[in-house]
Amino acid sequence: MKPMFSPAEIRKDFPIFSKVMRGDNRLVYLDSGATSQKPFQVLDAERKFYETSNAAVHRGAHLLAEEASIAYEGARQVLAYFLNAELDEVIFTKSATESINALAYSFGNSDANSRFSLKPGDRIVVSELEHHANLIPWQQLAKRTGAELAWFSIGSDGRLDQSEIDSLINEKTKIVAITHQSNVLGTIVPLEKIVKHAHSVGAVVVLDACQSAPHFAIDVKTLGVDFLAFSGHKALGPTGIGILWGRSEYLNQMEPFLTGGSMIETATMTEAKWAQSPKRFEAGVPNMAQAIGFAAAINYLNNLGMENVAKHEKDLTAYALDKFKDLDKVKLIGPKDNVDRGSVISFTIEGIHPHDVGQVLDQYGVAVRTGHHCAWPLMRKLGLGGTTRASFYVYNDEADVDVLIHSILKAQKYFKV
Ligand code: ALA
Repeated sequence: MKPMFSPAEIRKDFPIFSKVMRGDNRLVYLDSGATSQKPFQVLDAERKFYETSNAAVHRGAHLLAEEASIAYEGARQVLAYFLNAELDEVIFTKSATESINALAYSFGNSDANSRFSLKPGDRIVVSELEHHANLIPWQQLAKRTGAELAWFSIGSDGRLDQSEIDSLINEKTKIVAITHQSNVLGTIVPLEKIVKHAHSVGAVVVLDACQSAPHFAIDVKTLGVDFLAFSGHKALGPTGIGILWGRSEYLNQMEPFLTGGSMIETATMTEAKWAQSPKRFEAGVPNMAQAIGFAAAINYLNNLGMENVAKHEKDLTAYALDKFKDLDKVKLIGPKDNVDRGSVISFTIEGIHPHDVGQVLDQYGVAVRTGHHCAWPLMRKLGLGGTTRASFYVYNDEADVDVLIHSILKAQKYFKV
């Protein structure tokens, strides 16, 4: 039987939790939505690679090159298994932002008769929930190609207005690029109808899984989407590594974003023929140690069990939502119930600017994100300049929520509101 999920035990794997914070406080890290902390297992995997097997993958005939290539491809296997994907569909990029830009670039550089090419009259659909990484690349692609950018709006409950599906996704729509979970509100977007409708009009669906893949089990075959992106650093892994997943029949028809070594099948002085996926999209010596660290992070999550991770975060969110009910002049921004929402809690405090809230919380060792959260259009829609956001992960527990609540009360006292 698996041991009970214990954040206190988990924290022992993360060296950063031994750091003493301002005012001799322990670290209450509630900013995993921005980036997660890293366990020894990830740090050790990266270090071990450099110490024992460092060489450029897929290039040398020597032992180190062979070991490095095996470790790198092993990392791909771990990620493929995690997503229930095929091996050749998993591409290592430097970040989720790069993954989404790679897609946008590729669509924008497709042959006029390719299914991915865009022209005036075509439509790209996003939503008001998007963070900049899944908005700006599509907005700019629309500008470059003359395609129209359209978007799902959100209601005052922070949820997508699904009644817009028919009008937004029609025969003009070529791409639906949507977040799985809002980084600001925690809203989880129900995908089934969107995917079904998009496919019925021949559009492809790009899923931004930055805030979902680290927190609950993802199965690309069940989701039915066509492309997916997420980053390692939000999933206990290193920075500088991300995933682009896509259906191989699509990837092998697409233009690569970066060109150079390893991504070609043949080359002459004037011509080159692209390799098949994933090599087609991995030009140059890749971020090998980071890919190996990413796989170590995924193994760590697998050992915990993604169902257990999801349940833990759900329970913790329920606990926090309940505690927030007792706070005066504190407004939750986004879904107030615990249905179809992740472990992100955004809030405002009447009379205190979010940056000031963040600074007071910091005095108690509490690390939160404040401001627009790289989702400016969403903030505008909500009529807000910013929020304070607490985001939870495997190492957080009820005691962390209690410290958060205590420090909010202290902030109110300090600012006399
Ligand atoms: N998108 C990241 C966040 O939500 C950076 O903080």
